Amino acid sequence: MFCEIANPFIRRILQEVGLVAGSMRPYVVGGFVRDSLMGKESQDLDVVVESSGSHNGITLAQKLADKWQVDVKSHQDFGTATVNHPEGLKIDFVTARCETYTQAGILPTVKFSQITDDLWRRDFSVNAIAISLSSDQFEQVLDPTNGIADLEGKRIRVLHAESFSDDPTRIFRALRYAVRFQFQIETETEKLMQSAIDRIGILSDARIRNEIERIFQEACVVEIMQWLSALGICQAICSQWQLPSDFESIWHNLQSHLEWAERHLDNDVLNAEALPWMALNLPSTGQERLSLPGRLRQKLVAHKELAQRLLYEPLTPMMKPSQIYQFLKPHPIEALVYHLPQPQIEQYLTQLRRIKPNKTGNDLIADGWTAGPNLAQALWEDFARQLDKCG
Ligand code: CTP
Repeated sequence: MFCEIANPFIRRILQEVGLVAGSMRPYVVGGFVRDSLMGKESQDLDVVVESSGSHNGITLAQKLADKWQVDVKSHQDFGTATVNHPEGLKIDFVTARCETYTQAGILPTVKFSQITDDLWRRDFSVNAIAISLSSDQFEQVLDPTNGIADLEGKRIRVLHAESFSDDPTRIFRALRYAVRFQFQIETETEKLMQSAIDRIGILSDARIRNEIERIFQEACVVEIMQWLSALGICQAICSQWQLPSDFESIWHNLQSHLEWAERHLDNDVLNAEALPWMALNLPSTGQERLSLPGRLRQKLVAHKELAQRLLYEPLTPMMKPSQIYQFLKPHPIEALVYHLPQPQIEQYLTQLRRIKPNKTGNDLIADGWTAGPNLAQALWEDFARQLDKCG
């Protein structure tokens, strides 16, 4: 069977990869092949090069980089390399390998091998299909695990019984693909997945964080997160973690707040990555478990503080601009955007926060004031009058 690569630009570059490879045997694998067979556009190019005992992935990447006169980034330990084609296409190269998990959950040790072994070590059959790039077999499909039948049957199926417990990130991946493509998780695979949920505990903070951030990139975040929660995966990550029961409306509201922010705020003022984390309601023990960066955790704390404050001191239409300013100024912009839509927050973000005081301390000193708390108070009163004129 052959699969013609639909995008003519990508097809031309991959033909070039096959030509430059000569006797090394390169294959495009994974998401690109899966999506191509489903008639979907993908730019996510992973090329596996069969090993003849050395790092052929790196050798081929280096040859292409020389030809295209670009740099190559390589990792000798893993036999991987990345090359950016000058016309704007990133290709990841890896030497075909089989992996052995000396300790489940940590990254595997790698042994170089042939393409078929490389495909059998992968997560799901639909991700274990290869398209040959060798000139004499260009676009020939290799499907040792019957992935095409699973694509047609809309099934997510693992390739061996230990797959989830060796690598519990595959639990997140299975849910992501099932929701994204509206596929079923095959019955045996689902049982294996459920029995591996307690293995999530052995995953590193970074790997879980990465899986959650990949969920944020999906179109159906709500469905995936609710499924994760129903399966007890949130609790497996952090025993006190309960996804909010109204997560669906929280998430949809958040999307409209982000759209508002995109229309009204300059790009550089908002750290938008913090907002999805605010929606998850991850307790501080969970934030520690995932080693969320300090700056992100500060934003999550600030969000909670603002939520509490708004509960007891709601913003009202009676508030003067200077009162709105004083109320909202201490809170980071991310927390304010999260708590939209409120006219006072909108006014603060689009107007009040941008106003510069007409008078400085030096101006008042020149007017005869002496430095001290009275001066600070006078400055604020002057600025408050200025703000209230905007109302
Ligand atoms: N893979 C795997 N086990 C994992 C992660 C990845 O076997 N835990 C393999 C799969 O064959 C996958 C490929 O590595 O197709 C590339 O991984 P990744 O880029 O994460 O996924 P994609 O298939 O490109 O899917 P997505 O569309 O979600 O990016």
